[in-house]
Amino acid sequence: MSESLIELTDVHVNFPARTNWLGKVTERVHALNGLDMVVQRGETLGIVGESGCGKSTLARLLMGMISPSSGQFELARAPYSWLGRGMQMVFQDPLSSLDPRLPIWRTITEPVWIQTHPGEKERRDLAAKLASQVGIRQEYLDRLPHAFSGGQRQRIAIARALSAQPDIIVLDEPTSALDISVQAQILNLLVDLQKQQNLTYILISHNVSVVRHMSDRVAVMYLGQMVEVGEARQVLDSPSHPYTRLLMESIPRIGAPLDGAPHNTELPSNRHLPIGCYFKDRCPFATVACEKPQTLRSLTNGSSSRCWKAESLLDV
Ligand SMILES: Nc1ncnc2c1ncn2[C@@H]1O[C@H](COP(=O)(O)OP(=O)(O)OP(=O)(O)O)[C@@H](O)[C@H]1O
Ligand SMILES: [Mg+2]
Repeated sequence: MSESLIELTDVHVNFPARTNWLGKVTERVHALNGLDMVVQRGETLGIVGESGCGKSTLARLLMGMISPSSGQFELARAPYSWLGRGMQMVFQDPLSSLDPRLPIWRTITEPVWIQTHPGEKERRDLAAKLASQVGIRQEYLDRLPHAFSGGQRQRIAIARALSAQPDIIVLDEPTSALDISVQAQILNLLVDLQKQQNLTYILISHNVSVVRHMSDRVAVMYLGQMVEVGEARQVLDSPSHPYTRLLMESIPRIGAPLDGAPHNTELPSNRHLPIGCYFKDRCPFATVACEKPQTLRSLTNGSSSRCWKAESLLDV
């Protein structure tokens, strides 16, 4: 039986975008708009969606850095927080997420130090153990972050996340800032660590190949909602939602000619949300039925899709 660690139901997050001369908010950015999501223990849930669809907002919400404007946010084991005890995060840019003035043995053990204030000897021993788990040599532990390459810095950031013995690690574009050759090494390290420590990953990426390589399940995000959720292979190889299909078609393939007009996958404004289905204005299958708001519906292939036509599109 799978155990859900996180359940989000109809979660909304918005930010003030404009205020009038009295300081009253007159316009809002609607970053998450009725987001539903379940995370099961031990899985990697890949989250894909283009820039601005709300992926990092979701990550910050999960980490407790921001609160939902409305909706339900349930965690299996309270209290989860950015201090550790359950959930940790690895960011896209390892250099800006590591304190440039701290030798890395301090950085790696900072989450534990905040929680339990271990002594220096204990802290150094823990740093050495974590460094060996992520492939950083012990003699480098007194160095500062700038002495390392991008890939090594990301290893340090992963060691830091592991130090608090989290159940869940939120990985927000963990390899996007790295050379392609280093990307694979970091992804393989993450896979090995997951097996050894029964970790649960929420992997956020706009890179479909990275998500395909890593994920058990995939959730596709569009304008602050999940539009399709299911087994990775089902979602990526037989997408049911018109947006997922567009996303898959717009990935350049090796050997395929780069002719024809590029697909328009630009998001509508999240200041004035569309009425009904958010994707209808660029959907090739749109009809009057799409003027109604869409909910996630279960399909016969086990996925869920936020489109009334999804089942019939599976065979097209
Ligand atoms: N603190 C904030 N104040 C106002 N608007 C914000 C804030 N944080 C995010 N937004 C807006 O919310 C929307 C979603 O942003 P978010 O960073 O979550 O997107 P993303 O999917 O992570 O994009 P990317 O792939 O570029 O990282 C964007 O329109 C962004 O401008
Ligand atoms: Mg982001």
